[in-house]
Amino acid sequence: MQIIREVDALRRAVAVLRCAGGKGGGTVALVPTMGALHGGHIALVREARRAADHLVASIFVNPTQFGPNEDFALYPRREAADAETLEREGCAILWAPDAGTMYPDGHATSISVAGVSEGLDGAARPGHFAGVATIVTKLFNQVQPDVALFGEKDYQQLAVIRRLAADLDLGVRIIGVPTQRDLDGLALSSRNFYLSKEERRAARALPRALVEAAQAIRDGGEVAAALAQARETLVAAGFSPIDYVELCDPETLRPMTTLNGPARLLAAAKLGKTRLIDNLAVTS
Ligand code: PAF
Repeated sequence: MQIIREVDALRRAVAVLRCAGGKGGGTVALVPTMGALHGGHIALVREARRAADHLVASIFVNPTQFGPNEDFALYPRREAADAETLEREGCAILWAPDAGTMYPDGHATSISVAGVSEGLDGAARPGHFAGVATIVTKLFNQVQPDVALFGEKDYQQLAVIRRLAADLDLGVRIIGVPTQRDLDGLALSSRNFYLSKEERRAARALPRALVEAAQAIRDGGEVAAALAQARETLVAAGFSPIDYVELCDPETLRPMTTLNGPARLLAAAKLGKTRLIDNLAVTS
């Protein structure tokens, strides 16, 4: 596996991969990450290897998607261990630029995706999705992959990136990969590293609250009552504040007050200093 930090070298290396061919004609999959790889990332990487001939993974902790009071400085950075994992998983190129390469002096362009970016995390974390959309557009332009894979755990991010790729004709097929969970149901996340033992035990209330609410809604219960019950479950487990528990249209993410088609149940809440998010599909 090559570890590359300069855009020109990346372009040359990707061109070589494309010429190297393969059963799909030298196709390239991109798995963008911020590092601190866990089982969720491994699932993306394995799916990427099925989807294309060659895998490029990126690691870049993107400052513009963190708010002023968020965990950018503390975000776990483990490039050496991540590189070993990616090499073992058959990654061809690790694209690991530094901040100066991604945001050169005078950088002044930002991509914003209206609508789908605006509620939920978009409301709770102003500027977050513009940071994500901008860096993902740059990564797509740098690597020019045929497919790119993102976890459903960050469901709103996935919806924003699908919208972005379609609206700007980026020519990248976006694949969403189901959330990977620990045995007790907690979605795998780099932010789980921050939880104390006690918080980790309490955190299982988040998937439980969603499973129970999804079941109640599927069984014909009032959506508002199911969401209120989920909030109560979270508060009882020690989550505070609860940013949202919402039932939404799975594409536009507009709130739904009744289950009249496919829907997504999404929640975000803080446990101590750690903000956790999760979501589930709800079908009638
Ligand atoms: O999901 C992430 O790790 C990040 O938001 C992404 C997509 C790599 C952009 O920085």
